[in-house]
Amino acid sequence: MITRRQSLTLALASAAALGLPLGRLLAASERGPILTRAIPSSGQRIPVVGLGSSATFAQVARSEDVSALREVLSALLEHGGSVFDTAPSYGESEKVAGAIARELGATEQVFWATKLKVAARGGSADPAAARAQVEASFGFLGKTPLDLIQVHNLGDLATQLPILKALKAEGRIRHLGVTTTFAPQYEELVKLMRAEPLDFIGIDYAIDNRVMEETVLPLAQERGIAVMVYLPFGRTRLWERVRGQALPDWAAEFDAASWAQFFLKWVLSHPAVTVVTPATSKAKHMIDNLGAAYGRLPDAGQRERMAAHIAALPG
Ligand SMILES: NC(=O)c1ccc[n+]([C@@H]2O[C@H](COP(=O)([O-])OP(=O)(O)OC[C@H]3O[C@@H](n4cnc5c(N)ncnc54)[C@H](OP(=O)(O)O)[C@@H]3O)[C@@H](O)[C@H]2O)c1
Repeated sequence: MITRRQSLTLALASAAALGLPLGRLLAASERGPILTRAIPSSGQRIPVVGLGSSATFAQVARSEDVSALREVLSALLEHGGSVFDTAPSYGESEKVAGAIARELGATEQVFWATKLKVAARGGSADPAAARAQVEASFGFLGKTPLDLIQVHNLGDLATQLPILKALKAEGRIRHLGVTTTFAPQYEELVKLMRAEPLDFIGIDYAIDNRVMEETVLPLAQERGIAVMVYLPFGRTRLWERVRGQALPDWAAEFDAASWAQFFLKWVLSHPAVTVVTPATSKAKHMIDNLGAAYGRLPDAGQRERMAAHIAALPG
């Protein structure tokens, strides 16, 4: 485990890098506990901001020097987070994160969300290959029961979902689910949400990407399915949109001190959302993102003002 002293050093370095005055950092440390939400099916409470591991995290995981990811994971845990979303298809991310968590003595502390997807030959996935992939994830992450495994991008559900159901029945995983970030798959997702005992769905959602508000998110509330949000920044899309733009003063009304917190608090203010997992390769961004899990969230009126503000930006 990293010590309080190391944590303070990291926090101070991050505050300096973010340009935050020390007073604001200390005030932040007195913000009270991180916001958590319950997974409807189990009642387990999880912090509402976590960490994703495709994109830039995966790029660093593939490199020779993964020390930046050690800092990112340390920052996640030291600032109250625990949820880590990964997948066998994110290169070295699963393996590297598992090893770092072991080094930090934090394997049990992390809420591990990984996925299952083996290539489907001739229309159906090889069940033996799918089981082997799951066993590899258990090996890399080192926690039993594993917190969550989801079928990645609704891949061959006839083969893969029963494997996850069996693992849950055996007590080797706590929760199961399915993911997609492709709008053409939402119809199939909705059918599954009605028919299958899903604990979670993983789906894209962002201030400029709201189609899932029509059916998917209300259905998740109705069926008691937890929602893990992906792509809250549209990867690079929203960063390009706000480049050179100052954060509006009224963002302080819901305690957003950065564009990242503005975007994440907007996502979190939808009542169906359980957790959001932005990817980052930088500890200062991890701390910034976790800031969205403290303080007030926007109300319905503020949400629409925020969305209108982003829609009206040039470009
Ligand atoms: N079908 C699926 O199951 C599926 C699909 C897509 C995504 N996902 C999951 O969702 C996660 C999130 O999606 P994503 O990674 O594609 O996109 P994202 O989280 O919307 O955006 C990640 C990008 O934002 C940057 N960033 C993060 N925090 C920042 C901050 N505070 N300030 C400035 N820039 C910041 C990161 O760069 P830096 O490294 O510079 O911070 C990175 O370029 C994935 O990592 C993955 O775990 C799942």
